Amino acid sequence: MCGIFGYTGKQSATPVILEALKSLEYRGYDSAGIAVIDGSKPISIARKKGKLSDLENYMQEVPLPDSFSGIGHTRWATHGAPSDMNAHPHTSYSGSVVVAHNGIVENHNSLRFELKSRGRNILSETDSEVIAHLLEEHISKGLSLKNAVSQVCSLLEGSQSFVAMSQYEPGVIVGVRLGNAGGLVIGFKKDEAMIASDVVALLPHTQKVAYLANRQVVQITENTITAFSLDGDEINLDVSDLSQDIESVHRGQYEHLMLKEIMDQPEALSDTIQSLVSVDPTYLNLEGIQGLDVALSKIKHVVLLGMGTSFHAALIGRCYIEKMTGLPTDVINASEFRNRQVALPPETLLVSISQSGETVDVLEAMNIAKEKGVVQITVSNSVNAQTSRVADGVIYTRAGVERGVASTKTFTTSIAALYLLALRLSEIQGHLTQEEIQAHVLDLIRVPALIEEQLQDLDNLKVLAKKISIFDHFLFLGRGNTLPIALEGALKMKEVSYIHAEGYPAGEMKHGPIALIDDSFPTFALAGKHSLRTKTSSNIEQILARNGKVFALLTEGDYELKGIVDEAIFMPETTELLEPFVATIAVQCLAYYVAYERGCEIDQPRNLAKTVTVE
Ligand code: M6R
Repeated sequence: MCGIFGYTGKQSATPVILEALKSLEYRGYDSAGIAVIDGSKPISIARKKGKLSDLENYMQEVPLPDSFSGIGHTRWATHGAPSDMNAHPHTSYSGSVVVAHNGIVENHNSLRFELKSRGRNILSETDSEVIAHLLEEHISKGLSLKNAVSQVCSLLEGSQSFVAMSQYEPGVIVGVRLGNAGGLVIGFKKDEAMIASDVVALLPHTQKVAYLANRQVVQITENTITAFSLDGDEINLDVSDLSQDIESVHRGQYEHLMLKEIMDQPEALSDTIQSLVSVDPTYLNLEGIQGLDVALSKIKHVVLLGMGTSFHAALIGRCYIEKMTGLPTDVINASEFRNRQVALPPETLLVSISQSGETVDVLEAMNIAKEKGVVQITVSNSVNAQTSRVADGVIYTRAGVERGVASTKTFTTSIAALYLLALRLSEIQGHLTQEEIQAHVLDLIRVPALIEEQLQDLDNLKVLAKKISIFDHFLFLGRGNTLPIALEGALKMKEVSYIHAEGYPAGEMKHGPIALIDDSFPTFALAGKHSLRTKTSSNIEQILARNGKVFALLTEGDYELKGIVDEAIFMPETTELLEPFVATIAVQCLAYYVAYERGCEIDQPRNLAKTVTVE
């Protein structure tokens, strides 16, 4: 949450920072701001409540002076409502230090109290502003900006990262990461350096990047990038080459990122599957978990965890692991994992799913599990992100950068990765035969083409979306493998269309939710061939008998069930284990087109941010 960017080099800083903030805006869009430093002159700042476009409009009237270094911020509010005053960057009491911050200063109240007692005037309601004042106090005692950052970090509680500039060291930007809330990545380029909270902001400039680890400080100037531990020891950064295509992160011909990313799925899936299996001969090739074979052969129990869409991927992962390995498998919401005393015997495998690899609840749960010494595998779409550093093995999905706040392609690629993980576990534990494993792999390889075809024919779905868009409440029903897709469908519908939607097991209806049913509270039933269709059709009848409207997702050719429900759309026929893929495409598209009909801000839904790095 919150996007941070810092630039120092030979280009005019403001346009570079603005461009970068555009790509980081998915992290928060409550306010935005830029601070630049121009030689010995005072630091100049522009900050505006609202979206980045509001800041741009404001800067057209009140431009910032030309400068070659600066920092910027897009905010997802935690402390203090969105306002100009609460927008970052924040300045110190004399205006000589600026800070752009992500995460939470948990002890900000006591720091605020102490600063006030020393006569500092705190202007905003944020937790972040205290950092700027503390930095100036340390710099005024003769410390460099970098040393002041290290000292001030010892006063801060909570998980966070920030970048800072001082008027006395123009051209220098210092960044620091404390804990799991928000990574920082540094971009290397000749005569320029930059630092951002997501690699996506660096891609237009460089492919050479290094991630800052917990409790590391970095100082960048146009010619130097130096990293230190908080104790002041210099450390070597691990620079990697991204080889990521900037074009792939833009909207292209599509009106919204969400639609573009839905449409990316055949390619994203194909890239992911190809990176994890070899064909001809067909075998599993999960390099990131090589070396764990002995440990995996002893596993007796699997726990999966994630948040939001990744939690739903974990639920599908459970179906796969149970089916393919016979191992007892649990799924736990990562934030609840921390609130419970989850038993993790030594033969447990913990599988975490986080597309960003930065979600703080997932990281905290992983750290708890690490203390208990269990084997951990993580599924992530972000190379070298924090989760991959905590886990013993990693399975990367190859979805490309996902910028839409609503996760789409990272969901289907994660479930593909979990399908292959389940097969590998089964192989190691000798549960399925080689022939069975190969057959499952070949089934998965066919999925991208199936989805490609499905995405080419959305006319009926669009018509249905129009009809659905007038309702304010919705139930999504599923059974077995498609229950997680009902939950995901409801989540997608809520977040992009603001329709109140709930996902339920179809069999649960008569235990309470059916009381909600009337002609204004419709149901969307996932009743494909493999979604225990016969049982679900009885639930559909029960709803229809109570004047409830039923829309259904059926397997191509199921005219019998189509004849009973109010409206139906079809999905292609596939195997039982792969039905979740094609069902997902349908619920994602439905949510998108419903939101479109309702005129919602699909790529920037209210109150949300893409990467959740606060608790
Ligand atoms: O980066 P992660 O996969 O850990 O993110 C977890 C959730 O915040 C995320 O899946 C969220 O629910 C989706 N953006 C919703 O579409």
